[in-house]
Amino acid sequence: MDTQTLKQAVEKRRTFAIISHPDAGKTTITEQLLLFGGVVRQAGTVKAKKSGNFAKSDWMEIEKKRGISVTSSVMQFDYAGKRVNILDTPGHEDFSEDTYRTLMAVDSAVMVIDSAKGIEPQTKKLFKICKMRGIPIFTFINKLDRDGRDPMDLVAELEEVLGIEGYAMNWPIGMGKGLKGLYDIYNNRIELYRTEDKGESFLPLDEEGKLAVANPLEEESIYQQVLEEVELIKGAGSEFDADKIAHGELTPVFFGSALTNFGVKTFLDAYLQFAPAPSAHKTEAGTEVAPTSENFSGFIFKIQANMNPNHRDRIAFVRICSGEFERGMDVVLNRTGKKMRLSNSTQFMADSRETVETAVAGDIIGLYDTGNFQIGDTIYTGKKALQYEKLPQFTPELFMRVTAKNVMKQKSFHKGIQQLVQEGAVQLYQSYSTGDYILGAVGQLQFEVFQFRMANEYNSEVLMTPMGHKTARWINPDQLDEKMSSSRNLLVKDRYGAPLFLFENDFAERWFKDKYPDVELTSKL
Ligand code: G4P
Repeated sequence: MDTQTLKQAVEKRRTFAIISHPDAGKTTITEQLLLFGGVVRQAGTVKAKKSGNFAKSDWMEIEKKRGISVTSSVMQFDYAGKRVNILDTPGHEDFSEDTYRTLMAVDSAVMVIDSAKGIEPQTKKLFKICKMRGIPIFTFINKLDRDGRDPMDLVAELEEVLGIEGYAMNWPIGMGKGLKGLYDIYNNRIELYRTEDKGESFLPLDEEGKLAVANPLEEESIYQQVLEEVELIKGAGSEFDADKIAHGELTPVFFGSALTNFGVKTFLDAYLQFAPAPSAHKTEAGTEVAPTSENFSGFIFKIQANMNPNHRDRIAFVRICSGEFERGMDVVLNRTGKKMRLSNSTQFMADSRETVETAVAGDIIGLYDTGNFQIGDTIYTGKKALQYEKLPQFTPELFMRVTAKNVMKQKSFHKGIQQLVQEGAVQLYQSYSTGDYILGAVGQLQFEVFQFRMANEYNSEVLMTPMGHKTARWINPDQLDEKMSSSRNLLVKDRYGAPLFLFENDFAERWFKDKYPDVELTSKL
């Protein structure tokens, strides 16, 4: 691929994740987007996978049980001259550190909010990571076909709870059974809500905001109210500011109903207009690599183990940061300095896995891996060694004490733990007083995967004792006194030897802070 072709190909890429709390409508909106891209011909394909009706021979056991799949982790489609990559961020108990790390591999995020519920806990957690990265965030307030909260409240909540300004791109005209349409502020038009398709549903407005055609909403009292609200928003609301959007300081807010496919296309068109193409990535050395650089490079943000004992391989997910990937190419793995050939690669579509021949910066590829890769690894071509910035460590919230079932098998137990921890499957801590191993995770699934893999890959049955939710807080080693540890705040060290306390609850943490006001406690991300 010559430089010009590469540049054009990169410029077309839009890579994002949808963040939301379970049940807000992420699956439904993803399906609608895929339909626009012509990928899923039959609505319900993604959903069928979610509910486990889809049989795939090589799904790992836990995937099957939970009905999640590798194939739906990344979805790609073409629309309006753009190549769109959607990365899945699983919810419910499937929530794991991988979910957070996925956000390190995208260039923007779409936040889906249920109009009846507003901002929910999981959305808040995922938002925090996007905010830390400073990537653009687009908001879709869903389920307008049901009665929800006052739109003014919902937009205000973005600022109050998340600390991000909201700019209403459109405004609902009614809700639930009374839903009539959307006042499209950005495109200066009215989008009529129709339960069945009766042709063109966009009505243009003139410069003064008056309908240029006969107004079917004239009689509706709600329409007059909306006109007043829109005036208020235009006068007192946030100003549209593309620069603030680009830095994640302002989120364009769209209303709609994913289920009835209302407002989704309007959202997608505007999203593709403002969402960024892949940009430069920072290296450990503090330099930046442009996506159009002729050398290929990328980093591994997720490793998915195949639990099927007949297929003992894993898939390492690579975010391509620069250049072009070609199947069979030789790259260097920076951590080891070793050369390796990338011959076994795969790309993901909504309903199949395909061998990928080429891909460019912004795309995600999966590499079949027999244990070479770790999370955070950089691979590259070219003479200059390259390591992308370390992926952040996320504060675990769930903890388990772990021991080997068979005390005679300590060796495989230790080997398994060390390797799985290095790979990024779970966090490992050790108690100061007893030396016990404690695992930390952000989601229950991580423990299940760990236990399964220990048995299957390392032939080590493990016993796990839940310690429940705890708050992990790191302490400056200079301020540490082992006497500070009590039954309510367990003193442990992380795998780098740094000391931290696992507090029973908020009360225990406050109690500690009152007792030792000079001691500094910090949390990771
Ligand atoms: P998630 O991936 O974020 O967890 O949510 P998902 O899309 O699965 O949607 C959760 C539920 O909300 C589903 O209902 C879905 O049909 C419904 N839903 C999504 N978008 C809308 C919308 O715009 N309007 C309305 N009224 N409902 C919406 P369910 O009962 O759990 O599933 P199903 O059995 O109806 O498919």
